[in-house]
Amino acid sequence: MDIGIEKIGFYTPKNYIDIVELAKARNQEPDKFTIGIGQDKQAVPAVYEDAVTMAAEASHQILTDDDKKNLGLLIVGSESSVDESKAAALFLIDLLDLPENIRAFEIKEACYGATAGLQMATDYIAAHPDKKALVIASDIARYGINTPGEVTQGAGSVAMVVSANPQVLKLEGKSSFMSRNVGDFWRPTFSKTAFARGKYSNQIYIEFFETLWKQYQAEFSVSADDFKAMLFHIPYTKMGKKAMRTLQGKISDAKYAQLEKEYQASILFGRQVGNLYTGSLYLGLLSYLINSDVKSADQLLLFSYGSGAVGELYSGIVGDDFKANIPVAEIKALLSDRNKISIADYEDVFQQSISDGESVDPTTVSGHFYLSEIKENERIYSKK
Ligand code: HMG
Repeated sequence: MDIGIEKIGFYTPKNYIDIVELAKARNQEPDKFTIGIGQDKQAVPAVYEDAVTMAAEASHQILTDDDKKNLGLLIVGSESSVDESKAAALFLIDLLDLPENIRAFEIKEACYGATAGLQMATDYIAAHPDKKALVIASDIARYGINTPGEVTQGAGSVAMVVSANPQVLKLEGKSSFMSRNVGDFWRPTFSKTAFARGKYSNQIYIEFFETLWKQYQAEFSVSADDFKAMLFHIPYTKMGKKAMRTLQGKISDAKYAQLEKEYQASILFGRQVGNLYTGSLYLGLLSYLINSDVKSADQLLLFSYGSGAVGELYSGIVGDDFKANIPVAEIKALLSDRNKISIADYEDVFQQSISDGESVDPTTVSGHFYLSEIKENERIYSKK
């Protein structure tokens, strides 16, 4: 039986900042941010947006009534949790009008969460081939104003319907993974911003890729020539390139040049929004499927990395009708119809939050879903 991604949707907030303006405000060379880090724009969530509202938006873009009827599993991968107890997935039952005969929960492991969800959903479909699963990656990447990580912030959500009709990407069940207790990046429960040992995190990311690539080749007797493209978790767009460079000299120059070209197509969207944490690999997949000359039956290798750290390398085969199952026009419009805000306005929004007893004026809301109120410390969400 074929199993994999049937549909894929995406959401990013309406507001963004320009990375050159950020560089100037931080007294940095703009080239450092645009070339050295590889970013152009950074999504800035509104005060009423969070992992729940963005997950609802990305899912709303793709779900039909028929999908909803057949869902048996709903997993939200997130490290931007809004509650230490209640899963983000539960709020979505109401916001998306989902049936109650569904297993709904949240998975956390930094940027690896959605991949864990995807693998779990694959097993679920193997056991229940007539059902569907919804796996959502939803995060706000926050390091803080004037920190080294600030240039890599971002926000957004990717929603994937997993089923036995994988029109977008058939997962082959070939996967190598590893877990190690590493202090490269963490966010204690008291903090809204992450702590990172930036250079060390880059080093561990690259080491995990190298280790898993050796393991994957040995386990499945493959070489780089078997893959049309290698897609990476993209915390900032230079990062995947740094990992890919470890292949230079080990594969033919022509294959390396081709992989580099494919990589460029996979980072076009990431350059415009920043780190989505657990959604970044899947935004890279979307960017690649929309912006490259990839064809159905091409084989892709995906590298998932979550700090802390878990890494997984797995492969997929592009589905027969992938473009028809991706809302290409909506995604392009979402990215092009955004508002640029000033660095001062971003700094302002960054410090804002909704307190207990406060509510949001719905006329100020741009999307379909929003955090409308906090009442007795409970978050209340609404649809427009
Ligand atoms: P930094 O210390 O400000 O930057 O932090 P740098 O000095 O390392 O410079 C960055 C690059 O710009 C360098 O290139 C410079 O040479 C270049 P590289 O050596 O890396 O190839 N540069 C220039 N290029 C052109 N023109 C210039 C110029 N000047 C310098 N004028 C760092 C950078 C990424 C460390 C920081 O932003 C950070 O801490 N980010 C957060 C952590 C992170 O993203 N880590 C990535 C790996 S871990 C991961 O992916 C997991 C994660 O997503 C979390 C999760 O799992 O949940 C983060």
